[in-house]
Amino acid sequence: MRLNDNALLARLKELGVEVRPGVSLQEKTSLEIGGTTDQLLLRRYESIPDVMRLLAENKIPHRFLGGGTNVLIEDGELPWVVLHLPTAHPGVQIEGNIATVDASTDLGGMVTFCAKRDLGGMEGLIGVPGSVGGALRMNAGAYGTQIGSYVREIELYRAAKGEVETIRGADIRFDYRHTSFAPEDVMLRVKLELPPKPFKEILAGIRVCNEKRRASQPLNQKSAGCIFKNPPGGSAGRMIDELRLKGHRVGGAMVSDRHANFFVNAADSSCADMLKLIDYVRGRVRDSYGIELENEVIVWRN
Ligand code: EPU
Repeated sequence: MRLNDNALLARLKELGVEVRPGVSLQEKTSLEIGGTTDQLLLRRYESIPDVMRLLAENKIPHRFLGGGTNVLIEDGELPWVVLHLPTAHPGVQIEGNIATVDASTDLGGMVTFCAKRDLGGMEGLIGVPGSVGGALRMNAGAYGTQIGSYVREIELYRAAKGEVETIRGADIRFDYRHTSFAPEDVMLRVKLELPPKPFKEILAGIRVCNEKRRASQPLNQKSAGCIFKNPPGGSAGRMIDELRLKGHRVGGAMVSDRHANFFVNAADSSCADMLKLIDYVRGRVRDSYGIELENEVIVWRN
């Protein structure tokens, strides 16, 4: 989608928004799949309600893109613009054992920043790619850790009310790769309450998780992490592996030969290739195990 109304563009500029026309989202996602649209870089958290109101008044469909590491985006000219939250370095402030973190902050960078200040607990999250905002929305987790366990408070933009609100961690439901936020809510900032731990100990934990991950996941290939959620009590990766689907391809999309729940962009995969591969594998698991796998990856279609 291209913004070409000069009055709208001028107003966005006044609100501190930088518009980058015609950006390929292939460059913004870890799968390197996605079409083209205008990219809006928000520079000030305070202006978010005004920006959202302006887009609504002008009937401009929009989506927030975080780290782009858990999303599969349609090809071609996209019918919505993409918004990015303001970034700041380091994006983390520490007071005692509370870390206040901007949603746009890199998750791994945040874990390391806190570790260096002797705040731990999140060692398992070290290799999870993406932004803190994306991790909060999905309740990202690995190796027995999930980010939701450390949330004391979240500041978010409540799309339904058009307002910024602060919610206590205790009032949010964090389930397995699922939270009680509305799909249009936008995470802005979080206060994490972290257990104090010496840096050396945290580092040892980080090293163990890194090794496990390197041994089992295709880290140097283009993927969005696990494609399916694990069904209760089961493992999507194990079932797909048992069906001997590792290496199975549809066009440029392939089931990783390293971890069967990672689907990789092996050679210029289109979104359609990846979706066909997802449907095919889901069908095979349904036929053999009677289990309907649910997507973990978020699909943005037109
Ligand atoms: N397995 C196979 N073949 C495979 C992959 C796995 O037999 O190709 C078996 C393993 O041997 C193991 C079991 O399946 O016995 C579980 O595998 P693994 O330990 O790799 O964990 P997972 O359940 O596949 C989950 C998360 C990962 C997270 C790891 C580590 C989900 C969908 N996946 O994977 O998260 O990194 O545990 O905690 O919950 C993600 O969310 O994108 C993700 C990658």
